[in-house]
Amino acid sequence: MSREALIEALGQSQSMVQALVEQADEATYRGQFHPDLSPLGWHLGHCVYNECYWLHEKLRGDNSVTAPIADFYTPPRTPKPERGTRLPPRADLLLWAHEIQTYNLHYLRNLRAAQRAHPLLENDYLIHFLLQHNAQHYETMLMILTQKSLTEFRPQATASGHAALRAAPVQRDSVDIPAGHYRIGGERPAAYDNELPPLQADLGPFSINRRPVTNAEYLGFIEAHGYTDERWWHTEARAWLKTSQAAHPDHWRRDGEDQWHALGVRGAYALAADEPVSGLSHFEASAFARWAGAQLPHEYQWEAACRIGILEQTGRVWEWCGNSFQPYEGFTPFPYNEYSQPWFDGRHYSLKGGSLHTRPALKRPSFRNFFEADKRHMFAGLRLMY
Ligand code: AVJ
Ligand code: FE
Repeated sequence: MSREALIEALGQSQSMVQALVEQADEATYRGQFHPDLSPLGWHLGHCVYNECYWLHEKLRGDNSVTAPIADFYTPPRTPKPERGTRLPPRADLLLWAHEIQTYNLHYLRNLRAAQRAHPLLENDYLIHFLLQHNAQHYETMLMILTQKSLTEFRPQATASGHAALRAAPVQRDSVDIPAGHYRIGGERPAAYDNELPPLQADLGPFSINRRPVTNAEYLGFIEAHGYTDERWWHTEARAWLKTSQAAHPDHWRRDGEDQWHALGVRGAYALAADEPVSGLSHFEASAFARWAGAQLPHEYQWEAACRIGILEQTGRVWEWCGNSFQPYEGFTPFPYNEYSQPWFDGRHYSLKGGSLHTRPALKRPSFRNFFEADKRHMFAGLRLMY
């Protein structure tokens, strides 16, 4: 992509994050709708802070914008429940964000030769990074709006008026992938540190389904009492089931007529039988796979199958993989230690593909998302491997 097109895309990512705050009322702007999620407004401020940190503080040693707000917008320094009350008035934040982000685009368009020689700008690396960072926070903001819809859902007020979701048997539409050496990993300058360096994965033969698990198939697991059958849940998963009381995907609710609906950014919608199921934790995804006599793919299997064009419907839901999130051999943290390094803790699992809410800048075979096994607010489902 040309530099001008990249800056254009960065501008678009800024506008999308700003627009979500423009459309929000005061309660939505400041509210915390999930223990793992910040208020909507904080994400806009954090995106602006992040742009200024790299473009002004790091690139040219000017911390006049970042220093006063660093504690508030650096995640571990201000606990999530304190963020809502400490946000500036919504109109002030919007005006500030618009002015600074517009200036940042102007600054990037008019870089001098000496500034362009900075290692962070080699092959426009920093523009890719800022664009993708905004895109990730945009998707997180849609998770917040989805959680808000969930808190507002009233079963009695939701008339179904559409065909009920019915369970369907799990369909095996798998393709056999031969053993071999497969190329895994990303390419500079767009790749995040955790996609590098690329590697050759030595894979044995496996079969992987063309399509992700659907809503109808997942309802089959629920109706087969999958949530209460201990055979499908390992020790840690059973403990999670007990405390969470989970009995269906995070985004599913029953209406007054006992029909299933999903809740999304714009409220309730009908669950289509053939759409990929979303709203699952890693615990639920693995229990479903066991029940179906299958497994979750290793992320290398997923990427290898994706690269040879086998996988259909990628980019509709994040797909949980069976393996924990680990560094590739020769991993070097950049542009900062905390992007990936702290999360190679064996407790985070890799997810591949992307959801309907994921921006194109993040959709590539090598992209690795990562969350802990109990998280289920991120539009995640699964695909079966045999
Ligand atoms: C990779 C999605 C888990 O949102 O916490 C954003 C991405 N890192 N800002 C997150 C991220 C720093 C990260 N996830
Ligand atoms: Fe961030």
